[in-house]
Amino acid sequence: MKTLRCLLLAFLAIHGSFAVDRNNFKTCAQSGFCKRLREQKPEKSQYALDLTSVMVQGNTLFANVETIDRESEKRTVLHKYVLKLSAIQDGTFRVEMDEAEPLYPRYVPQLALKDTPVPDKLNLVSKDDNRVIATNSQGHKVVITADPLKVEFYDKSGDVALVMNENSQLIIEPLRKKREAVDDESGNVVEVDEEGTWGENFKSHHDSKPRGNEAISMDFSFPDAEQAYGIPEHTDKVNLATTTSGEPYRLFNLDVFEFELDSRMALYAGIPVLYAHGTKRTVGVFWHNAAETWVDVVNYADSNVVSSLVNLVTGGQKQRVDARFMSESGVLDVFVLLGDKPKDVFRQYTALTGVAPLPPKFSLAYHQSRWNYVDEADVASVNEGFDTHDIPADSIWLDIEYTNTKKYFTWDLEKFPHPSEMVSNLTAKGRKLIVIIDPHIKREAGYFLHEEATERGYYVKNKDGKDYDGWCWPGSSSYLDFLNPLVSQYLSEQYRYDKFVGTSKDVHIWNDMNEPSVFNGPEITMPKDNRHYKESESGSEGPAAYWEHRHIHNEYGLYYIRATHQGMLDRDNGKYRPFVLTRAGFAGSQRYAAIWTGDNMAEWGFLSASVSMCLSMAIAGMSFCGSDVGGFFKYPESELMTRWYQAGAYQSFFRAHSHIETKRREPWLYDADTLALIRDANRRRYALLDFWYTLFFEHSRDGLPVMRPLFQEYPDETAVFTIDNEYLLGDKLLVRPVLEQGVSSVKVYLPGSRTRTLWYDVDTYQAHQANGYINQETPMSKIPVYQRGGTVLPRKERVRRASALMAADPYTLVVALDANNTASGTLYIDDGETYEYRNNKYIYAKLEYSPEIMSYTFINENASYATRSWVERIVIAGIKAPPKTAKLTQGDKQTSLLMTLHKGNDVLVIRKPGASMAKPWKINFSY
Ligand SMILES: *[C@@H]1O[C@H](CO)[C@@H](O)[C@H](O)[C@H]1NC(C)=O
Ligand SMILES: *[C@@H]1O[C@H](CO)[C@@H](O)[C@H](O)[C@H]1NC(C)=O
Ligand SMILES: *[C@@H]1O[C@H](CO)[C@@H](O)[C@H](O)[C@H]1NC(C)=O
Repeated sequence: MKTLRCLLLAFLAIHGSFAVDRNNFKTCAQSGFCKRLREQKPEKSQYALDLTSVMVQGNTLFANVETIDRESEKRTVLHKYVLKLSAIQDGTFRVEMDEAEPLYPRYVPQLALKDTPVPDKLNLVSKDDNRVIATNSQGHKVVITADPLKVEFYDKSGDVALVMNENSQLIIEPLRKKREAVDDESGNVVEVDEEGTWGENFKSHHDSKPRGNEAISMDFSFPDAEQAYGIPEHTDKVNLATTTSGEPYRLFNLDVFEFELDSRMALYAGIPVLYAHGTKRTVGVFWHNAAETWVDVVNYADSNVVSSLVNLVTGGQKQRVDARFMSESGVLDVFVLLGDKPKDVFRQYTALTGVAPLPPKFSLAYHQSRWNYVDEADVASVNEGFDTHDIPADSIWLDIEYTNTKKYFTWDLEKFPHPSEMVSNLTAKGRKLIVIIDPHIKREAGYFLHEEATERGYYVKNKDGKDYDGWCWPGSSSYLDFLNPLVSQYLSEQYRYDKFVGTSKDVHIWNDMNEPSVFNGPEITMPKDNRHYKESESGSEGPAAYWEHRHIHNEYGLYYIRATHQGMLDRDNGKYRPFVLTRAGFAGSQRYAAIWTGDNMAEWGFLSASVSMCLSMAIAGMSFCGSDVGGFFKYPESELMTRWYQAGAYQSFFRAHSHIETKRREPWLYDADTLALIRDANRRRYALLDFWYTLFFEHSRDGLPVMRPLFQEYPDETAVFTIDNEYLLGDKLLVRPVLEQGVSSVKVYLPGSRTRTLWYDVDTYQAHQANGYINQETPMSKIPVYQRGGTVLPRKERVRRASALMAADPYTLVVALDANNTASGTLYIDDGETYEYRNNKYIYAKLEYSPEIMSYTFINENASYATRSWVERIVIAGIKAPPKTAKLTQGDKQTSLLMTLHKGNDVLVIRKPGASMAKPWKINFSY
């Protein structure tokens, strides 16, 4: 395959075209269940709830549901189900529905939820002849209409926020045995061939479907919604498109070679959370399902939604979004997040699935990667290059070629004979090494992983129960079956220093190809009828004795990174924070890894997509996101490379990476001007590293996105609902990277109130009034970034080789005043790598400015950290009446401070206040 890929690349080089091979991937019509479900458009739901069965136990309402043959004269029950409605803390409900007596248990994701959701009170308010009404402790009401079944969720002001099954698209295909009939000719009982039910084909692949059809579907209507967001990973806009006349959005983790832009095709990650937003409210739906899923969206405001439909469904009202989720298997399990603002739904989602834990600080700095740094000398020279050219960098990455012929946890000892010395040489400069570990295991006699896994029965099995053998980088490969807890533990143990020789606490891990990618598998992944471990229940046999890959597919990569993360914790007895990078993603992946957007291209469109893709990821819990700076395939010329570094410097995960066949492109291989601009971009990142670190600390507490779409902070400002080429960092910085070729200016939208919100250009301190577009000149040196008036930002401005060397450096505090001449900000400080912050060894401080006083106080007074950092400079932008004197008080020491006025007399600089950041201080101003 490697050679095949090389041939393909050679072919492309000749023909000059790069494009996804769409034939490798299914359309909805080629996916049996998607086609089947999408064609079903019943006028009236078959499902009806049996009111006599309603019962409340704890925070859950239980009821029986039946499907009714609407064609027949008398009431004929076709199948029985159980519906559960649970109240969950913080404005969340859970709706579960499964067959009353399924032939086999159906799979529920095991890792997406961080814990058992915390219950809220559920009150049964009333029950009449066709409705049940329940409420939670926060005043949200749920009305279940019995026949036809419909569930309405009301917001706190008593308006309908979400309706389930409004469009009668609830379907749970009952599991059943093959139908049998007597053969006319022979008189024998034979199995009836039901087309597609017991097997389907895609290209040369046959999927045996041992359990037959078991798909599920549900529709959700969001009255008053103006846009929908979420369900990454796709390459189209952040606000979701109406899918009626094309393909639905697809969630099925796939290694899509040369993926295309503006597409709803599946990609590496699939996170099934969708938000509907309007000025009235924001509501979310988390579809808790790990199987292949397709999502249809109709936004009634889209011009391509026929007006007759709008009139029919909404009575002419144009603000409404409908979404329909369709999954190949699983139970119906939906969390309804009632908001009612974007911040609320994002918090509610991360309350269920977890947050990104506080990362080691270095991981927020700049990373240098390439497929491949070929040997120790190469690594040494790249390491040296960053010093020679005065560009800060925190890590060097090794792709698959460092291994002994793609056998993970081994080294190619010809090219890398001294791994621990190589690591020491990096750490001597304050840098780390990051190595790739992929899930495919080379089937080679003598390879310890392969032999042990074979012997212990740790591999995923094929449909016949034999070790599955697929093709990946090493050639013939097998895959560990992490559903078996012993296997997850086994992988974790491989990260021990005595096992993975040459590694240390300064070696971190990149998990790639974990969709999983299988070059010769259907759609470049594992066959759906492969078998996974299932905790055995006595008497389970046949399809009940194992999970099929189809049931767990989107969760496989999460199982993998969880085991990696655990292994990295264990190797130091839980002392150091691990850094893991993943390509595949599912709900909950944020608890273990950062994510990048995979194998992109050195093209302007992919630079743009890096912003919208990471915004979608961030609102789906994955705040730690970035794209390959420069693009993976092809070669970025100077302008694109410069703009990409400038954009990457303001995205959460900042790593340059490139394909093995591309020209080398370390920054110093470019012309002197480009090198200087790249250096400047990296230095800007390092200057703001403490701000980034504070944002991630705050994310770990409140679960809110670090990179935020504008509508999160400005939910009533309709103009921002479709903006995805600019974004906010926290609520303080607005970033509008230059994403277009050859432009001398860009339009920047500044959100907020025209009279009260100010945005300060971070380069010039020029204040702009909000609420509308400004024209920003963009010479090559310009990165349009604005600090919101009313905020304080910490900066560190000394130039260093790596972030570790900046720990004791002094701060510059930039105060940008609001219309009231006040400002505030926060700062988090700790050792940057251990869990000692859990023992109160940290500082989380508030910085507040008013014309009379500026103060630095600890938010948690019990916590402290002995930082050697001090305040070198305070810049106050937007000052109207400069003070005459400034007096610093720290402990019992008082100092008079020197001030100077700059730029039109509205920027005041306090020189060398010298206050230690280890203790609170204040500055009193007099006029
Ligand atoms: C580590 O650095 C020393 C000193 O520069 C050098 O001699 C040695 O070759 C380096 N080792 C590796 C493995 O890069
Ligand atoms: C200014 O102060 C007023 C009164 O305290 C407050 O309502 C307003 O929100 C403040 N404006 C800003 C921009 O902070
Ligand atoms: C600080 O310590 C006191 C006394 O032990 C305790 O009551 C308080 O809750 C602590 N505060 C925080 C923020 O942990």
